[in-house]
This record gives sequence, structure tokens and C-alpha cells, in this order.
Amino acid sequence: MSDLRSGLGEAVGAAFAALGLPAELGRVTPSDRPDLADFQCNGALAAAKAAKRNPREIATAVAAALEGHPMIASVEVAGPGFINFKAAAPALSDRANALTVDSRIGVCPADPARRVLVDYGGPNVAKEMHVGHLRASIIGESIKRICRFRGDETVGDAHFGDWGFQMGLLIVACCDADPAIAAALDLLLTEPESWSGDDEAGIEADFAARISLADLDRLYPAAAGRAKTDTEFRDRARRATAELQSGRFGYRLIWRHFARITRAALERDFHALGVDFDLWRGESDVDGLIPEMVAELDDKGLLIEDQGARIIRVAKNEDRREVPPLLVVSSEGSAMYGTTDLATILDRKRFFDPDLILYVVDQRQADHFETVFRAAYLAGYAAEGALEHIGFGTMNGPDGKPFKTREGGVLKLRDLIDMASEKARERLREAGLGAELPPEDFEATALQVAVAALKFADLVNFRGTSYVFDLDRFSSFEGKTGPYLLYQAVRVKSLLRRAAGEGVASGPILVGETAERDLVLLLDAFDHAVAEAYDKRAPNLIADHAFRLAQAFAKFYAACPVLISAGETRASRLSLAALTLRQLELALDLLGISTPERM
Ligand code: ARG
Repeated sequence: MSDLRSGLGEAVGAAFAALGLPAELGRVTPSDRPDLADFQCNGALAAAKAAKRNPREIATAVAAALEGHPMIASVEVAGPGFINFKAAAPALSDRANALTVDSRIGVCPADPARRVLVDYGGPNVAKEMHVGHLRASIIGESIKRICRFRGDETVGDAHFGDWGFQMGLLIVACCDADPAIAAALDLLLTEPESWSGDDEAGIEADFAARISLADLDRLYPAAAGRAKTDTEFRDRARRATAELQSGRFGYRLIWRHFARITRAALERDFHALGVDFDLWRGESDVDGLIPEMVAELDDKGLLIEDQGARIIRVAKNEDRREVPPLLVVSSEGSAMYGTTDLATILDRKRFFDPDLILYVVDQRQADHFETVFRAAYLAGYAAEGALEHIGFGTMNGPDGKPFKTREGGVLKLRDLIDMASEKARERLREAGLGAELPPEDFEATALQVAVAALKFADLVNFRGTSYVFDLDRFSSFEGKTGPYLLYQAVRVKSLLRRAAGEGVASGPILVGETAERDLVLLLDAFDHAVAEAYDKRAPNLIADHAFRLAQAFAKFYAACPVLISAGETRASRLSLAALTLRQLELALDLLGISTPERM
């Protein structure tokens, strides 16, 4: 089903063609002057330039040819040769009615559909999440949903950071903190063969009893700090990392415990934020692939010895900045962050064979990805252009630096959600909302408002832009905020409930009033917004659409009484409200935001 914009574009293109001019000139866009027109076409200006003719003359001829077209109520030439259109009410009504019966509410599927893997979130074992992870999760979730809704076979992977030096640090920190753990690990080293599967479970239960997530949260920062100055400690941690990676049994068990408890907590918090990964593959999952990969890279002649390390040079003559080589094997023989990323590409090729991998990761890792991507192309692990870094700016504090808590630490996801929920409760009470809800529903609603506030405030900016964290503003029910959108959606829901209660039936949409026209024009523009958001990996375009739609609904609701009108008008307005709600909820869902039933 095509939108009015492209339908009209075709008609205008045909009019150009009839004058012997290229049909592409008929491209139509929403009017820059919505007070004067709905759509405009600037093609006459380009045509005149090419043909050295007067643009107004061409525009007038095109306009004349379109006079009386069923989609057009009026066509006028303005300024040097712009053609302005007002859409005909029956065409608007038809389009609205078609959207009503369309399960995709106007969004055309991508053609061709692709296989897309979205790598996002990127949380780590023990290391706390910072705002970069928060933004990666919010933006990545939305991009994943947009691709999926457009019809791509889409998989979202958390790419869990469970394999680096931080693991060795944690192991030695736990040993130092609890001699019983050190003793158990020693024992497991000397007599690994005497441990049966049951014992394994017993040992893990013992670890579980001794080491909680709170312990890790406390031990890790201290260990990371200590490793900076204490070389003996650092060396032990390095050794522990190497032993873990080469398969030391006891270390594997304790590491599995670290990963398990961190992941469980992370999954719970991410879920509260409306972020759910399809896969939680870890960096560790490709560890077994690395020797094979290194041998293959060597066979392909890509590895170069460099001061005891093995690297792949990826710089090109035409580079305008220095692109560092990929460090594949360090001089100590370990695999590095980039090695894991390269092996992960190979792994993904094997289990999913993606057409596209989108890495939704902090802009500050741009160089890392440029290097990894080039290496992957050289190795033939991905087709040129199939790897894309979707970078983003930072969420800043009032000081303009990446957001930190008042104590100067990174804000934990759980604390952020709690903080935003508290603010949401406050706002709901202030606005006199949710008072009739049972306590558990009030809580659930507050969480939805909080999540909408955080996510919308993030997604409404183009991802490359940094923004300042301002919970007060994000949580307001007024302005361009998530809570405002939820509020408008809930208003429609309550209208529909009342209509159902009064037995009012809906019927065909008949566009009449200006507010109805404006609303339908926006409903019509959704397909274009989603397609652009998809092409540019830019959820902000959908955020923008959702906001404008909510605003247009508010105007419509103020200008066009629904329940107190009668007959066909009432039935039409009810349908229009229901259609708006469906599209608004879909747009919000593509942003990863869900709406409450009541407030
Ligand atoms: N865990 C990494 C970090 O905290 C982010 C992972 C991003 N994804 C990737 N494929 N490298 O910085």
C-alpha cells in the first residue's frame, strides 16, 4: 500500500513526463508551509535549470495538467516555481480507511529483507555498566525492533564481556578475600581428576554461598584500582587470566559462577528497561575458535611479526588519519579485545551468516571497529560494507562530562531505574494521575513512565549528539517527553473504553475538519519516517513522528468532540482515534517503550 506522498509523486511525475521532462522531477515532499499546503514539488526549478526555461512556466503547465486529479483538492504555483498541493478529502479518507485495516499500519516491508545481527548493550562481568552501556542498550534495542518490524531476520546479541583481564582480577581478589576459596582452588589444581560431576555442583554451590554479586561489586573496583599500582598483584591477576583461558578447571568453575550471577542480575535490570536480548553470547564463546582463526590468518599471509606480537596491518594509502593495526596475539601470547571481535565475526558467519552486523557501541570505540572491520574484510569473514559501527555520543552530567553519580561513581542500571521510578511516582501524584489504581498497578505504571522518560529522552536526539541527563525534564508530562506520549496514548485508551461502555460503534473515516486532515496526513507519513529511520539507523525520526502524532491527536481531540457528536461523524472520529492509538503504540514499541492501560 503506498502513501499519499508517493501516490501524488507518481501523478506529478506523469505530468512532467507528459511535458517531455523526466518523471523523477515529480518528487513530492511534505510542505514547508503546512499553513498553505500539504505537499510540495520543487521539480520545476531543476527542470528549468536543465532546459534553460522559465521555472514558473513549467510549474504552471504541470499544475494545469493536474487540475481535477482525484487526489488533489487544489494545486498552486508559488514563488519562483514551487508547486503546492492540498490533498483531496476523499483521498485522505480512503488512505485512513486503508490504514485501519492494515495490520502494519502503513509500514511497508523492507525489500529485500536481510539477515541482520545487532550487537548492542555489551555489558561486562563485574565491571559496572556506565552510561555508554545504557545508551547502547536503548539505541540498540530500538534499531533491532525497527529492523525486525521492517521484515529483516534480526538477532540481537548482548556480546557479554566475560573473558578479559577483569576475570583474573576477580579470581585473585576472591582468593585474597576468602582463604577458603583460595584453598578450594588449590585443591582443584592438584587433584582435578578426583572431582566428579556431583562434586562440581557441590563446589559451585560453595562458591555461590561464599560469593555474591554484592561481593563482586565491592571486590572488582578495589582490585582494578590496586592493579594499577601493585605490580605483584597485577602479575598474579595476569597469570590467573592466562590460566583461566587455558582451561584451569577450578578457575573455570569460579568464573562460571561470576558470569552466571552477573548475567542473572543484568538480565533482570535490562528487562525492567524493556531491553531483551535474543542471545547472550559471551566473548568466551569464541575462545575455542581463536587458534584455528590465527592459523588461518597466518595461512592467508595476513599476520605480521611485530616486536614479539602478531598483528594485521590494515592501514591504506588513502587514509587521512592513522588506522592502527589489529593486535591479534600479544607478545605474551594472549588474545586481545580485537581478536575476540574478529573471531566473533567468523562465528556469526557460521551460525547466522548475516548480511549486516550493526555494532551499537560508544563512538569512542570508532577506531577499534574500523581496524576490526578492515581485518575482517581482508580475511574474507564478511563482505565489504557488511559491518557497521553505529556510534553515539555520551549522556552527560550538568558539568558536560559523561554522567556520574554524586559520589563520582558510575550509575548502576538498577539505581537509575529506581531513581527514575521515584521521580515518575512523584510526577504522577503531582498530576493527580493513577490515584484510582491498585498499588501494584500504580507501581507498574510508574515503571512504564520512568522507562518512557529515560528512553525517549535518549532516542529523541540523533544518536551522534550528546545530551545532558535531566530527570526532571525527562519525566515531565508536558513537552517533548516520553511521559507526554504515554499520557496521550492513555487518553485515547480511556476514550475508547468509554465508547465501548456506551455501546458507540465506529465506522468509516470521513475527513472533514482541519484537525482531522492534519492527523491523517501524519498517519500517512509514518511509512516514510520508519523507512528513513531504518536506512539511517536513526530512531530519533520515529521519536519525532510519535511526538508529532501525539500533538496532532491532542489538537484533534480538543477541536473535534467524539462521544458527544453523532451519527457518521461520531463513528468516523472514533475510528480515527483508534487508528491513531495503534500507530502511536507501534511507534513507541519501535522505540522500546510500552504504554499503560490507565493512568
Ligand atoms: N564490553 C565492551 C565494553 O564494555 C563493549 C562490547 C561492544 N561490542 C563489541 N562487539 N565489541 O566496552
